[in-house]
Amino acid sequence: MGKIHVTDRDGGEHELDVSNGLSLMEPIRDLDSGGVEALCGGMCSCATCHVFVEPEWFKKLGAPEDDELELLEGTECFDEARSRLSCQVFMRDELDGIQVTVAPEE
Ligand code: FES
Repeated sequence: MGKIHVTDRDGGEHELDVSNGLSLMEPIRDLDSGGVEALCGGMCSCATCHVFVEPEWFKKLGAPEDDELELLEGTECFDEARSRLSCQVFMRDELDGIQVTVAPEE
């Protein structure tokens, strides 16, 4: 279990608990408002779970898989230094405290 710090699409700040092994997408999708849509349910095929990861945390994530990168590059606000699909980032001890911001709606 770890904590993630999320700035939602409306600028609201949230501290959410995530169990190790679960994707960051799930708690961000479950926010009352301003979260991610995650239309494909985490299958890495929709890019509606796009988040920006703060740089000091981004480098801990390792490189995205090709299919994730392809989807991200197709988004209007892709930022190679911060963009990830939250359904492809899985909680582990090293990510306790990670800070992300929900990307603008496309
Ligand atoms: S939920 Fe669809 S790509 Fe992440």
